[in-house]
Amino acid sequence: MKMGVDLVGKTNLIVEQLRQIVGDQGLVADDASRQPYLRDELGAFHGRALAIVRPADTEQVSEVVKACAAAGVAMVPHGGNTGYCGGATPDESGRQVLISLERMRRIHEVDAIGYTLTADAGCVLANLQAAAEEKGLLFPLSLGSEGSCQIGGNLSTNAGGLAVLHYGNARDLVLGLEVVLPDGEVWDGMKALRKDNSGYDLKQWFIGAEGTLGIITRVVLKLFPRPAFQATALVAVASIAAACELLAAARKLSGDAVTSFEYIPGFALALVGQNIDGARVPFDDDYAHHVLIELSSHQENIQQTLEDILENALESGHALDAAIAGSGEQRDALWRLRESVPEAQRHAGGSYKHDVSVPIPRIPQFMDEACEAVFEVAGDARICAYGHLGDGNLHFNLLPPAGMSLEQFKESPGPRISQRIHTLAHRFEGSVCAEHGVGQLKAGLLAQYASPVALKMMRDIKHALDPAGLMNPGKVLLP
Ligand code: FAD
Ligand code: MLT
Ligand code: ZN
Repeated sequence: MKMGVDLVGKTNLIVEQLRQIVGDQGLVADDASRQPYLRDELGAFHGRALAIVRPADTEQVSEVVKACAAAGVAMVPHGGNTGYCGGATPDESGRQVLISLERMRRIHEVDAIGYTLTADAGCVLANLQAAAEEKGLLFPLSLGSEGSCQIGGNLSTNAGGLAVLHYGNARDLVLGLEVVLPDGEVWDGMKALRKDNSGYDLKQWFIGAEGTLGIITRVVLKLFPRPAFQATALVAVASIAAACELLAAARKLSGDAVTSFEYIPGFALALVGQNIDGARVPFDDDYAHHVLIELSSHQENIQQTLEDILENALESGHALDAAIAGSGEQRDALWRLRESVPEAQRHAGGSYKHDVSVPIPRIPQFMDEACEAVFEVAGDARICAYGHLGDGNLHFNLLPPAGMSLEQFKESPGPRISQRIHTLAHRFEGSVCAEHGVGQLKAGLLAQYASPVALKMMRDIKHALDPAGLMNPGKVLLP
């Protein structure tokens, strides 16, 4: 009884302390407003929280972290909450403090000489893209969730997306960071330097760490010249092997101007056609395999280059049909087909996801064997394997057989299929956590597939920065 009273007293004390730091506006108090923070994008994870705070600046984040560290309270950094692995959801203990960056959304500078953008970590990705565009520049990170994900979340998950082939992952787009460390100290690494070999590259520790090493509060990003011309086509291809041939040829013939190369199977395109208002597949015939290819350049003749590439592919038999965008509206319509695949899956009851990557030349064989494994374990599951073929990254998703709910499928046979697909990806020298990260969903998988040496290094780094284990515990590394 005495202990219970002590605990309630301590809880009230820390919540009151946090209120003093962030003010009433920075504390999410009423139950209905708290709910969206406590469940993940897919509704797979639900948690409780001691408090939900929304600091207004780095100083407040630092004070919040210091107060939590002093009280021995665990913290969960929270961005746009679009992540797929439950990384931003607290556990069910009700003793963790959720720290949302959503009030920290100032764009400090767009530097058109240095090609950099400096911003708070809570800025929504689409707003950064727009700020770069206003100055005729490009911030190339682009994903389906860009209207709500935050740059701090993007860097913490090392997001991939639709232009990695040319511009790299989120990691490749960062020059500097400011981070609040697990003891509340602020590391100012806000340098806008292209060259800086002064010891370890500390910013890289926090990129892809999913909030387990500290809270990213500000960023300096790389910008690029905005290509004046884009040539885009949806191409029906003879097979996945033919798609890989087309990718290699297009890179060569365009002088490496391919900025996106996305694979969409006939099944996914049909789902989009059936479930997304206004989506129209531009072919009369049904094809099994398609790619959305985009070239970007300063030369107007890039359209002609794409036409030449596709003519060669049609002649060689790698391509079967092609719809080339003749206007901005047509380009948008083609992209909508690709970007609507996640939503179309949701309309169809949701998908059982596998986010894997393998070396590009091995994709055709991986696909054959992975499909075979699905047929063996659950012959009637529907395969919706699509994604960033140009990066070797497939979303090997499955829809339950008609008549079975996703919940049922997750119980059985889902896990047996997952085991086969992940084992296969590992055997093909691939990754079972390609772009969506680890979070709480895949901490067990990481423990299973990462080498003992890699796991030990990760634990050593975690222990060095967060000896008390208070920063997003249970995510990435198993407790
Ligand atoms: P959250 O979901 O809020 O958090 C993700 C992780 O980062 C958590 O562990 C959290 O604790 C941590 N975190 C958040 N902010 C901070 C911070 N400031 N400091 C420290 N840690 C922090 N992902 C891709 O990679 N490629 C895609 O193509 C892609 N497409 C998507 C399409 C849709 C429709 C959706 C819904 C999601 C998609 N995603 C994709 C997944 C998701 O959008 C990305 O993982 C995104 O980067 C997450 O950003 P967020 O701000 O929503 O982070
Ligand atoms: C995508 O590329 O569409 C996403 O990363 C996968 C998804 O939303 O399921
Ligand atoms: Zn993706």
